[in-house]
This record gives sequence, C-alpha cells and structure tokens, in this order.
Amino acid sequence: MRALALVVAAAAGVTASRTDVVWTAAPPSGGPVPAPPPVTPQLRAEGAKLYADRCLPCHGRMGDGRGPLATHLSMPPTDFTRGVFKLRTTLPGTPPSDNDLFRTITRGLHGTPMMPWKELPARQRWALVAEIKNLSRRFSDEPQTQPLDPSPSPPDETEGLRAKGQRLYGLYRCGACHGERGDANGPAAVLYRNVSAGRFVRIRDLSRGEFVRGGAFADIFLSLRTGFDGTPMGSYNDLPADDLWALAAYVRTLVRQPTGAAAVPGAGGRATRTAPTSKSATDPY
Ligand code: HEC
Ligand code: HEC
Repeated sequence: MRALALVVAAAAGVTASRTDVVWTAAPPSGGPVPAPPPVTPQLRAEGAKLYADRCLPCHGRMGDGRGPLATHLSMPPTDFTRGVFKLRTTLPGTPPSDNDLFRTITRGLHGTPMMPWKELPARQRWALVAEIKNLSRRFSDEPQTQPLDPSPSPPDETEGLRAKGQRLYGLYRCGACHGERGDANGPAAVLYRNVSAGRFVRIRDLSRGEFVRGGAFADIFLSLRTGFDGTPMGSYNDLPADDLWALAAYVRTLVRQPTGAAAVPGAGGRATRTAPTSKSATDPY
C-alpha cells in the first residue's frame, strides 16, 4: 500500500511528444538508514552495472545528465559530474553525506521524474551511492562531509507558531519568489521564468504541496536550513531553529488540501486551504 502515484504528464496536445513521467507523491520519511556494506571492488562493479541499467537513460553514461531520455523530461536530470546536490544534511556548498544520497535514492524527488528506488535491496542502493560518488571528483577532492548540527526536536505546530511563520515569511521576502500566498507568482519568479524558460529554475508553487524532499514538518525545516545548492533557493541556516520551525509551519498552511477523499494533491479538489492536521505531520499525502 504505497502512497505513490504516477502521472503521465503529457497525455495530449502540444506536449504529446513528451515521455515525461512525474512522481506525484513522496514516500514517507522512512526509518533509519541501514548500515552500509564495505566499499569493495565487487560493490563498485555492482553499482556501475545497476547505474547502467537503471539510471543511465536519464542521467547519462558519464553522469553528465545527458541520457537518451533527458531531452524528453520536463526538467533536466542532475549532472552528477558537478557534485552539486539539492538534498543534503550538510552545510550549504558542501557535498552530501553517503546517508543523504542513500535517502534520495530511496525516496526519490516528489513532483519530478526522479522516482523512489526503495524496492531495490539496501545493498544495491549502497552500490549506487558508491557509483554516484565515483562520477564526480568532488567526493575525492572534498572527502570530509560537513554535517549541520543535529536538529532539535520539533515544537508543536500551533496557531501561534504559524502566525510567527507568516510574519517571518514577509520579513525574509520568501514571497519575492514564491508569491505572497505561495503560488509561485512573486516578482522574481517572472524573472527566473524568462531567463531559463522555466526548465532549469523552478520557483516552487508551495500551494501544490510537491516538496522534493517530502512535505513533513521536519523535511521542510531541513530544506530551509540547507537550501538547495545549485538553485536560487538559499540556506537560512543563520536563523535560529525556532524561526525555521515557524516558517516550516507556515509553509504547510499554504498547501491546498484536497477536499474529497482523493488524497493526491492536484488530483482532487483544491478549493480549501487548511493547515495539515497533526496526523499528516509525518506523511501529508
Ligand atoms: C526518468 C528519469 C530518471 C531516472 C531513470 C533516474 N533519475 Fe535521478 N533524477 C532525475 C531528475 C529529473 C532529477 C532532478 C530532479 C530535480 O532537480 O529536482 C534527478 C535527480 C537525482 C539525484 C539528485 C538529487 C539532489 O539531491 O539534487 C540523485 C542522487 C539521483 N537522481 C539518483 C538516481 C539514481 C541512483 C538513479 C538510478 C537508480 C536515477 N536517479 C534514475 C531523473 C531520473
Ligand atoms: C530567490 C528566490 C527564492 C527565495 C527568496 C526563496 N525561495 Fe524557496 N525555493 C526557490 C526555488 C527556485 C525552489 C525550488 C528549487 C528546486 O527544487 O529547484 C524553492 C523551494 C522551496 C521549498 C521546497 C522544498 C522542497 O522540498 O521541495 C520550500 C519549502 C521553500 N522554497 C520555502 C522558502 C521559504 C520559507 C523562503 C523564505 C524564508 C524561501 N523559500 C525563499 C526560490 C526561492
């Protein structure tokens, strides 16, 4: 009973030639990351083979993001040779940890063609981590990952916290890109759309609830701390943790909740804006 759904994004009309498939619901955060096997030549060989079978069509033979499917996708697959990653628990501007890569492969990136690979046995996912690290010199040149301080445990998501978050959202001008109500219509969004034809920079429409890391309270908190390297979404790691939790709580109120039973954002009604219930704190989908 996986809460996952596939949408063939281009069913008709002008985009009929697109083969894009978008992963529309993020799997829940998942449990702890299992211990990695030792990186042996055999593990590396397994990783290279799996990569060629499963990842090369999008990410390319050399990892440069130029696989045969790449031009058919709504957004470019990550160029692994650059060693720049969005989803990290490490300081902005530093490579991700092995656990970060393992989690990304397991969970996929919600709202993108990058699907979760959690059906693969853990050993195979670790083999893929080794292969991705092999594709960029950055991992050997900067071998020390620099983790952020551990996150304090989350506060209760109260009305007061959300109200504080709303003030901070204005103060830090999040709306310049995301729009005042999170609809991705801020003044800077227009600018980015023109510059990149909307393909390379995606100002996120927060009201759609498609968070690539996941929409849980702690996921959004972490994204605000780390920022998304290689994109205009900066890190707010300098702010006190309380402020980041408040912002995360407010962001979650911007998500339009489906009104009907269909709990897939965008598939059901999108008429109301209610704060996610506490039940949805771990898996809002
Ligand atoms: C159908 C195309 C497709 C396939 C197949 C695919 N990916 Fe991706 N992958 C993407 C796209 C597109 C992105 C960029 C998403 C974004 O920028 O938000 C991505 C991003 C990533 C990222 C970077 C996330 C970050 O933190 O920036 C990793 C790691 C990754 N993929 C690993 C893999 C692995 C490992 C495989 C094979 C098991 C694989 N991908 C197969 C399309 C694909
Ligand atoms: C300069 C423009 C800009 C500003 C300012 C900005 N963001 Fe973003 N934000 C982005 C872009 C671009 C992305 C999408 C990055 C990507 O996935 O390529 C994003 C993504 C996000 C996401 C999605 C995370 C996920 O997992 O998908 C959240 C939440 C978010 N921003 C919240 C905020 C908040 C809160 C602020 C203010 C404190 C803020 N942003 C300020 C550009 C901006």
